[in-house]
Amino acid sequence: MSVPAKTPPQKTSPKTFHVKSFGCQMNVYDGERMAELMAAEGMVATDDAHTADLVVLNTCHIREKATEKVYSDIGRVRKVAGAEGRTPMIAVAGCVAQAEGEEIVRRAKVDVVVGPQAYHNLPKLVADAVSGTAALDTDMPLASKFAALPARRKVAPGAFLTVQEGCDKFCTYCVVPYTRGAEISRPFAAIVDEAKALVDAGAREITLLGQNVNAWTDGDGRGLHDLIRALDRIHGLARIRYTTSHPNDMAQGLIDAHRDVESLMPFLHLPVQAGSDRVLRAMNRQHTRDGYLRLLDRIRAARPDIALSGDFIVGFPGETEAEFAETLSLVDAVGYAQAYSFKYSPRPGTPAATLGEQIAAEVMDERLQRLQAALNRDQAAFNAASVGRECSVLIERRGKRDGQWLGKSPWLQSVHVVGPHAIGDVLDVTLTQAGPLSLTGEVRALAAA
Ligand code: SAH
Ligand code: SF4
Ligand code: F3S
Repeated sequence: MSVPAKTPPQKTSPKTFHVKSFGCQMNVYDGERMAELMAAEGMVATDDAHTADLVVLNTCHIREKATEKVYSDIGRVRKVAGAEGRTPMIAVAGCVAQAEGEEIVRRAKVDVVVGPQAYHNLPKLVADAVSGTAALDTDMPLASKFAALPARRKVAPGAFLTVQEGCDKFCTYCVVPYTRGAEISRPFAAIVDEAKALVDAGAREITLLGQNVNAWTDGDGRGLHDLIRALDRIHGLARIRYTTSHPNDMAQGLIDAHRDVESLMPFLHLPVQAGSDRVLRAMNRQHTRDGYLRLLDRIRAARPDIALSGDFIVGFPGETEAEFAETLSLVDAVGYAQAYSFKYSPRPGTPAATLGEQIAAEVMDERLQRLQAALNRDQAAFNAASVGRECSVLIERRGKRDGQWLGKSPWLQSVHVVGPHAIGDVLDVTLTQAGPLSLTGEVRALAAA
C-alpha cells in the first residue's frame, strides 16, 4: 500500500544519508541493507545524523521507552538542522513504523514510513516523497524483500545474516508477532550464497539472525543445524553464531551441532523470561521452569564449556515476591555468562497490557536491581573462571590505548590484547586477567583460518 497524504512542498533529491538503528540485531542487519540500497542509488553515507539530507530512523517498538525515543529523535534532528537552515528528509523504518504507520505521519509529519518487510521499496518511497507525496508502505508481501536487495559489499569481520523472520509464539507481553509478522525462513541456497558473499566482503564470523532463529527450516525437514553444517564448509569463515532462540525450538540436531561443529561458537542466548511456572504460563511461554533447566542439562552435556545467556522480564502483571524469588533461584541454578533484564512494559495491542494487577514502578525497580546484581555477580564469576583458558579471539576494533585491540572470545567476552594486529585477525590467546565486563589476553599466535 502506498498512500498519498497531504502534499508537502517539493523537495530536492537527497545526496547524503544516515541510517540510525535501534533495537535488536535484526534491525542492525536491516539498517545495513537499507544503507546498501541507498548507496546503490548513488547516495553517500554520512556518519552524522545532523548533516545528512536523508535521515532514516530504524526503530524498535519492544518497550515504551524505545518507542518514545523515535519522536524525541525526530525533534532533535529537525532542531539541529533547522538551526542551520536545513530541512532534512526523515524516514521512519522498523517496528514502530509497522506498528504505528500513518500515526507517525500525523504526529511527526515525517516524509517516509516503511515497515521491516517493505524496506526494499525505500528508494521509490524517497522518490515519492521528493515529488511531494508523503509515502507509507507497511505491507508484508508474500514475495521476499531479500531478492530485491543489492549484493553485500564491504562488511565488518563480525557480520550479521538474517535467516528467519517473524514470530508465531505470541508471548502475551510481546509486540514482535505484530510488527514482524508470521515466522518465515529464507531459502537454504540464498542464505549460503549470502554467507559466501559476506566472507568475500571481509566477514570472519557470521551470526545467523532470527526472532526465532532456531525455528529455521527449509520446509523439507532441514533445520538450523543443517544450515550451520553447510556454512561450516565455507573457506575463510572461522566462526558461526546464531541468535535468538526459543527453548521449544531447540532441536536435538542443533544440540549435537554444538558438540560436533568446531566453528559453531560455544555460546547460546536462550531467553527464559521468568522462573515461576505460573508466570511462564501467563506469559504464554509454552515451556516450564523445569523443562528449561532440563534442556540446559542436555546442552551442557553436549558442550560442557557453553556460555549461556538469557533475557528476563521483572514485574509481569501479577508477579508476586515469591514468584520473583523463583526467577532469582533459576538464575542461581543456571549461572549465566551474561544476560539482559528488563522491567515489564505494557504494549498496546498485547494481551498482557489489559491484565489487572500491573506492578508498581518502585517494585519493578527494586526487583530489577536485585536481579541485575545476581546476573552481574555470575558474569564476573564466569569471566574470572576463564582466566588461564587458551582460546581464539577475533579482533573487531582498536582499543583506547596505543597498540591495544579489542576482540571477542568464543564465549562472546570482550578481550583486550596488545600487539601489531589488525581488525579481522583471529588470534590464539591465553586469557590472563578478568574484570567484571572484559578480559585481558596474551597473544600466542595468529590462529589458522
Ligand atoms: N525473540 C526473542 C527476543 C524478543 S525481544 C525471544 O523470544 O527471546 C527481546 C526481549 O525483550 C525479550 O526476550 C524480552 O525479555 C524483552 N521484552 C519483550 N517484550 C517486552 C515487554 N513488553 N516489556 C519488557 N520486556 C520485553
Ligand atoms: Fe516475542 Fe515471545 Fe516471539 Fe520472542 S518468542 S519474539 S518474546 S512473542
Ligand atoms: Fe525491537 Fe522490532 Fe527488534 S520491536 S527488538 S526492532 S524485532
